[in-house]
Amino acid sequence: MNSMEDTQVARNIELNDGTRMPALGLGTWKSSFFPRTSIQGAVETAIAAGYRHIDTAYSYNNEVDIGKALQSKMKQGIIRRQDVFIVSKLWCTHHAPEDIPVCLNKSLNDLQLDYLDLYLKMGDELFPKKDGKMLTSDIDYIDVWRGMEALQASGKVKSIGVSNFNILQLERLLALCRVPPAVNQVELHPYLVQTELIEFCKSKNIALTAYSPFGSPARSPKLIREDADPHKLLEDPVVADIAKKHRHSPAQVLLRYHVQQGVAVIPKSDKPHHILENTKIFDFSLTDEDMRALRGLDRGWKACLLDEIKSHPYYPFV
Ligand SMILES: NC(=O)c1ccc[n+]([C@@H]2O[C@H](COP(=O)([O-])OP(=O)(O)OC[C@H]3O[C@@H](n4cnc5c(N)ncnc54)[C@H](OP(=O)(O)O)[C@@H]3O)[C@@H](O)[C@H]2O)c1
Repeated sequence: MNSMEDTQVARNIELNDGTRMPALGLGTWKSSFFPRTSIQGAVETAIAAGYRHIDTAYSYNNEVDIGKALQSKMKQGIIRRQDVFIVSKLWCTHHAPEDIPVCLNKSLNDLQLDYLDLYLKMGDELFPKKDGKMLTSDIDYIDVWRGMEALQASGKVKSIGVSNFNILQLERLLALCRVPPAVNQVELHPYLVQTELIEFCKSKNIALTAYSPFGSPARSPKLIREDADPHKLLEDPVVADIAKKHRHSPAQVLLRYHVQQGVAVIPKSDKPHHILENTKIFDFSLTDEDMRALRGLDRGWKACLLDEIKSHPYYPFV
């Protein structure tokens, strides 16, 4: 491959239902904790910078502001509805058959949209608790999946997928479903390489989206495990060396790492300079040696530990 070809990774990932998902999306978790204008501004900035994939969830509590941003850019003629890939997530408070469409309709109303491009089944009050412990739904995820299939049949959701599913959960779902999941959204980065899961999903034609690609550095100390890795991914010397060699930033290297493997990635930022920086990942390529060095950093470290739901039968998911 010459260097021109090397840099030509797919900007869109074809899903098993024939639709296409842009490989780079904007993550929006936590953006709602900033002043209310921030998330609207971040999404508007991202669309102006070329992002065509926005990741949100009912539980992120920011869909109203994202809806305003989308409307504003549509009114300005920058995008049409069909130009953007909008992802949201069903929350565990809405797993009963009659509640599944309620959760979707709330997201659609807040986002001011007629349909979602991708709806993910996750495992919200947003995070209900009893006796200090997080409550999890005891409805079988296969039954929830049937509700997701019905949403897709209704046309209100183009593609359906899952998040934080491990191989065992996927195998059981694939054996019993009518529509296989198009996407599995999981935490992935060089400290959590998950080769087996990636290979499994590829073999079953399930696309992957990598969340927390920078190790979620702004995560509240309450949400990360006590032995939080002392090395911060964005400051890791191996990542820094590769970044220097390619005259790109560590963040760009961490994002390129995914798209070069055919994995979509959804970095969160509400800073215009970061939002723009994170788009510049299609003009260079990592060598096999760089990829090996990045994979060599694997230490099974998870930013998103979901400790609160340790009692769940499928914990630790992936
Ligand atoms: N499905 C799930 O269970 C799940 C779980 C977690 C996350 N997610 C999704 O994945 C998205 C991303 O994950 P995340 O928010 O946990 O963490 P992340 O994307 O790994 O990290 C976000 C942090 O990195 C900073 N950052 C962004 N660009 C940067 C750059 N170029 N240089 C330096 N710092 C930069 C951001 O700060 P600034 O804002 O100041 O730029 C923010 O503090 C979420 O927002 C959400 O949409 C899904």
